[in-house]
Amino acid sequence: MKHIYLIIIVLLMASPVHTDEHTVSSPGNIIQVQFKLENGVPYYNVSRFGIEIINKSALGFILRGAPDLKDGFFLKESTQSYHDETWTQLWGEKKQIRNHYNEMRVDLIENGPLSREISIVFRVYDDGLGFRYEIPEQPNIDQIKIMDELTEFALTGDHESWWIGAYQWNRFEYLYENTPLSDIDTVHTHFTMRTKDGLYLSIHEAALVNYSTMVLERIHGYTLKANLFPWADGVKVRTKTPMITPWRTIQISDDPGGLITSYLILNLNEPSKIEDTSWIDPGKYVGIWWEMHIDKSTWGSGPNHGATTENAKRYIDFAAAHGFDHVLVEGWNVGWDGDWYADGVVFDFTKPYPDFDLEGVAQYALSKGVRLMGHHETSANILNYEEQMEDAFALYEKLGVRAVKTGYVGHGTEIVWYDENGKPNHEWHHGQFMVEHHQRVVELAAKHKILLNVHEGVKDTGLRRTWPNLMTREVARGQEYNAWGGDGGNPPDHVVIIPFTRNLSGPFDYTPGIVELFFDEYRPDNRINSTLAKELALYVIIHSPLQMAADLPENYEKNLDVFQFIKDVPVDWSETKVLHASIGNYVTIVRKDQNSDDWYLGSITDENGRLLKAPLSFLDPGRKYIAAIHRDGNDADWIENPYDIIIEEKIVDCSMILTLRLATSGGQAIRFTPIND
Ligand code: NOJ
Repeated sequence: MKHIYLIIIVLLMASPVHTDEHTVSSPGNIIQVQFKLENGVPYYNVSRFGIEIINKSALGFILRGAPDLKDGFFLKESTQSYHDETWTQLWGEKKQIRNHYNEMRVDLIENGPLSREISIVFRVYDDGLGFRYEIPEQPNIDQIKIMDELTEFALTGDHESWWIGAYQWNRFEYLYENTPLSDIDTVHTHFTMRTKDGLYLSIHEAALVNYSTMVLERIHGYTLKANLFPWADGVKVRTKTPMITPWRTIQISDDPGGLITSYLILNLNEPSKIEDTSWIDPGKYVGIWWEMHIDKSTWGSGPNHGATTENAKRYIDFAAAHGFDHVLVEGWNVGWDGDWYADGVVFDFTKPYPDFDLEGVAQYALSKGVRLMGHHETSANILNYEEQMEDAFALYEKLGVRAVKTGYVGHGTEIVWYDENGKPNHEWHHGQFMVEHHQRVVELAAKHKILLNVHEGVKDTGLRRTWPNLMTREVARGQEYNAWGGDGGNPPDHVVIIPFTRNLSGPFDYTPGIVELFFDEYRPDNRINSTLAKELALYVIIHSPLQMAADLPENYEKNLDVFQFIKDVPVDWSETKVLHASIGNYVTIVRKDQNSDDWYLGSITDENGRLLKAPLSFLDPGRKYIAAIHRDGNDADWIENPYDIIIEEKIVDCSMILTLRLATSGGQAIRFTPIND
């Protein structure tokens, strides 16, 4: 035995670890990414101003039917390039976006007879990084079955983190947890953290196409590993060369507001594939929606059916009178009777209920300068939807419908498809099967000039840059939980966490704007858990280019003064700045209207009231503005006195500092309009 130890020690001494290292820095030299091959195994690590953010972390793949791609590599070539361009966003939170990074491409070849090649590409920005794998076309690898992606994120401490768990039946619709990193098991992204030094990190992915959604699994200590939703047969991703993975992204900022104004995810997506984008318009909508959620009417047919011709015309008249672009009608098509929320219900996407004159309503809307917004609730029966969706989108296009809301209500795993032998398979909502389905839908919608608003979909990874008709999505707990949530709905801090987690990936159809905060007549146990002013502020905080005024027309008619703000607030912005940010506590965002010189401010808080000082230095120097202020009244309090609101005007300029007084679960919404100079 002694001899064996001796031989091993001699061998170890004779073959020192062979390391090949290559480092790339961000343009401002803030972030460094180091790639290394240690004895043929690829790793990376990340530092910021010399402080380690990600310790040595593994890279690679486990494959089925072929040797793994995880070790035995040598470096073919490592190249670096500098990029700086500014591109114009068709719509969004900011018009001009700078894409400024250094790229390092590392081309590896496997030792041995197969000599397979794989590249890892790092793009390093001053506010974070993205990296992805590329497997080029080559003789010894063609069809690929990925059984595991080995990418690790070895974090350096027990960071405070905000997260929702993955692999749960209700998909993304959970309240965020706030725990030390060491408490997590497997979580969705965005996964946002705060280090002990007060640095903010958020891990996500960009450009999720032809692949499976990544979640993060804590494998030991503070090390997370990519975990991909599997197909029914256990394979994580089926693909072939040439292939690229989505970008694995880490956003890094000194303050949480910097995460909100980071455009890294969008920058890592491809430019628009839609050439003629003239039909793509952000806008606002009302709809036959909230009334079903509060049980005033039903999706299904019968005496209380919401989607009747008469009711739809009432909403259209209201939309036309108040300048809304679309009217959503849910429950219009055959299939809603019974438990429509149980998976696999067979909806008919071209057949209206007899009391809903689809063509007549669509025509009536057009005659009033409004468009019907379509609705496809699939109940996660993808096979049924795919059989009909070509006809369904063609029908909507013919009727002048410009936007469709889709829905995939169904438990996390109960999306069914059949293989060539007729065997049913259950797929995850977020696996490659669904990623590919959503891609087919967005391309089909673009063909029919239709904008999409996706509920219960996969998370946003910035694909709106490539497919700008992919306007918005839900993929989180929205307003509807306040209508019927058995747990009391969304607590006051929910929307103060969302801007730093869910919203970092893109627009959220939260459906704000409920002005009658109680609906005792229908659901006495539920309510909106905020003040009225906070509901208004959400229009500035939660960006969505298709934004709903979610309440009933009759409720707005009773509250025309507050409704004015909902009518005025834009949905497309040329600039966004964050004035205050504390995750789960409070946030103030200002945005500039894309189509005028007006600025809007939204400020919200959790269950604690606050005084925040807001410097108005974002306003143009030398100009005076009318500030139309909607603030919590002096006695406002979300539990006892949520309707207490003061609407007042002030003349302000950029040298002033406004004190924002936010009530418990309160808010403030301000419109700044320049006075003609
Ligand atoms: C859940 C969606 O989030 C909601 O907006 C919609 O009304 C229902 N599904 C019915 O499709």
